[in-house]
Amino acid sequence: MLLELQKINAGYGDLQVLWDVDLSVDKGEIVSLLGSNGAGKTTTLRVVSGLLKPFSGKVMFNGRDITKLPSNKRVEMGLALVPEGRQLFPEMTVLDNLEMGAYTKRARDKFHDTLEWVFTLFPKLKERRTQLAGTMSGGEQQMLAIARGLMSRPEVLMMDEPSMGLAPKLVLEIFGTVKKLREEGVTILLVEQNAKAALDVSDRAYILETGKIVLHGPAQELLGMDEVRKAYLGI
Ligand SMILES: Nc1ncnc2c1ncn2[C@@H]1O[C@H](COP(=O)(O)OP(=O)(O)O)[C@@H](O)[C@H]1O
Ligand SMILES: [Mg+2]
Repeated sequence: MLLELQKINAGYGDLQVLWDVDLSVDKGEIVSLLGSNGAGKTTTLRVVSGLLKPFSGKVMFNGRDITKLPSNKRVEMGLALVPEGRQLFPEMTVLDNLEMGAYTKRARDKFHDTLEWVFTLFPKLKERRTQLAGTMSGGEQQMLAIARGLMSRPEVLMMDEPSMGLAPKLVLEIFGTVKKLREEGVTILLVEQNAKAALDVSDRAYILETGKIVLHGPAQELLGMDEVRKAYLGI
């Protein structure tokens, strides 16, 4: 497994949010972590990216225990997070935002090649490279947030609710992008509340309920399960 969480317990101060969370992502997979608001999805990604230290448990990446490594070291190793709510620099141009994503040595060395790759994936960002990020539409800003994550040349790209707040047509575009990235060899850990759309593009998925993994398996299997259809797909 490329990325593996082993029995992660985590939270904030006295508040425990995650309980014995086990989750793995193999190279080349799209894996979704689904669950309703407040289930602990963002907290899980914070633990993986090193922004939150777990109470106990391990994070393994490429066979290495990275539980104690700081966040920037993890980015250097090839783990990138596209955060919830995009977190762009609105007063900076598209190009400057992309440069901010390439701050590691791993990324700086390949900066020009990566920029070309990203512009091929998102031609609109090339057209708009001198535009201020904050003046772009929600869909364009999400594309920019994903592109900024790609600038670090990740092996695993984690995305926290990329479809949030977007119109249905743009949601389709975002999930189309997710599939395209997999074809480009990027492994993806996708966090979503939009379970149907996420399961449609995923190989496997995990369902988190109040901090516990209650179900996991191949995405197609989950799509066919009554309990999933009722609770998460509104069918
Ligand atoms: N910085 C924080 N301090 C205290 N509690 C937090 C913090 N961030 C999240 N929480 C709590 O942790 C729980 C899980 O939140 P989160 O991981 O953001 O859920 P999700 O991303 O699935 O919506 C929620 O009850 C939330 O209120
Ligand atoms: Mg969240």
